[in-house]
Amino acid sequence: MRISVIGGGYVGLVSAVCFAELGHSVDLVEIDRAKCDAINAGHPPIYENGLEELLSAHAGKNLHAYVEYDHIKYSDIIFICVGTPQGPDGHPDLSNIISSSESIGRALRDTDDTRYHVVVVKSTVPPGTTEKQVIPSVLRQSGKKNDKIGFAVNPEFLREGMAVWDFMNPDRIVIGCRENRVGDLVEAAYSGIKAPVIRTGIAAAEMIKYASNAFLATKISYANEIGNICKKLGIDVYEVMRAVGRDSRIGPAFLNAGTGFGGSCLPKDVSALIALAEDLGENPVLLKSVMHINKLQPLRLIDLLIKRVGDLDGKKISVLGLSFKENTDDVRESRSVVVIKELISRGARVSAYDPRANQSMKRILPEVDYCSSASESLTDADACLVMTEWPEFAHLDKEFDLMKSRVIIEGRRILSCKDREGICW
Ligand code: UGA
Repeated sequence: MRISVIGGGYVGLVSAVCFAELGHSVDLVEIDRAKCDAINAGHPPIYENGLEELLSAHAGKNLHAYVEYDHIKYSDIIFICVGTPQGPDGHPDLSNIISSSESIGRALRDTDDTRYHVVVVKSTVPPGTTEKQVIPSVLRQSGKKNDKIGFAVNPEFLREGMAVWDFMNPDRIVIGCRENRVGDLVEAAYSGIKAPVIRTGIAAAEMIKYASNAFLATKISYANEIGNICKKLGIDVYEVMRAVGRDSRIGPAFLNAGTGFGGSCLPKDVSALIALAEDLGENPVLLKSVMHINKLQPLRLIDLLIKRVGDLDGKKISVLGLSFKENTDDVRESRSVVVIKELISRGARVSAYDPRANQSMKRILPEVDYCSSASESLTDADACLVMTEWPEFAHLDKEFDLMKSRVIIEGRRILSCKDREGICW
């Protein structure tokens, strides 16, 4: 099968590489020339577990990247994987969706009429976007009728850091479409992957993505709220959730209490769902509480820190972990950003270390001292905050002796040494 993927970001590049691994011939459209060249040379412009190996195996063979849309006219299926970042009012910014739909339509204008294409929205978009914006735009620009172009929504459930594994081992594949022949073609793109396929309507598939991310976010804020209560009672919330999660109606995943959820997806998608609900005249109190807990949670670390070391003015605070979670260099919506800004506003000096994310954080917070190891960051520090559960932090112990005293506060549960205090354990 010949497949095009529009957008060479996390979702687009991982999908393109995995479709190539499944044996398809893949054309990736990435309008940024530097990224496009890097992809063709077999070097992923982002860090993602297992991606480089697969890209170098397929680049220049059955995977080619282009800055233009011309090649998509040879494709059976075109996956839209462009970003839908959060706009100023909580609604997602759909400008990339609109421009890529128009470009797809223009590129399909001259294909001969014996060809049938399916355009699939993989980007996370509010329910109604594909029906109201993508389909009319592609059809208008292409000058074709919907007997020549089919449409589907196929949301992604890829976790950063685990995206390649998640693509190849999904819990389910959701395909929203109007016609069986469209669903059959999209399903064929995944042949070789063992997973239940769920066929739905187009808008329902769009909603499934929001509802899934909102539920994951809800589990995290729930664990954090219980954790905050447990902390006051001297109970370890991890001991509690280990047993709570064994109830098959609840499940063990996403009950890890800490500083809350960051990243480019959960905060953005819950905000978008709130904005959508309010547009419809609903007051989504549960979702608002989920966001409210998440906003306050990282600041609890600052309260704990002040209790331990007093006024932060002039104190040296070591921050270990900058990425929003382990195994990525992504710092978008990272809890470390909120915490470091608060530390700086209170006059603290911040020395930070992350195995991969020093450079990405430097672009946002240049005033921090970035260190090349945990030991360097800890030397002479008045206190340490652990912000990301990087595996290499698990065995830190004697390194904390480099501090003025062992004031160690964990925002994520990862350490095993003595003298550590958890945000809610
Ligand atoms: C999330 C979803 O998990 C994916 O299924 C989805 O496809 C993706 O968003 C997306 O919409 O594209 P991701 O943002 O990569 O994936 O990260 P998660 O693994 O979900 O973690 C999000 C945040 O929650 C991280 O800051 C993590 O540290 C935090 N978290 C996660 C907790 O605080 N506790 C937990 O138990 C789990």
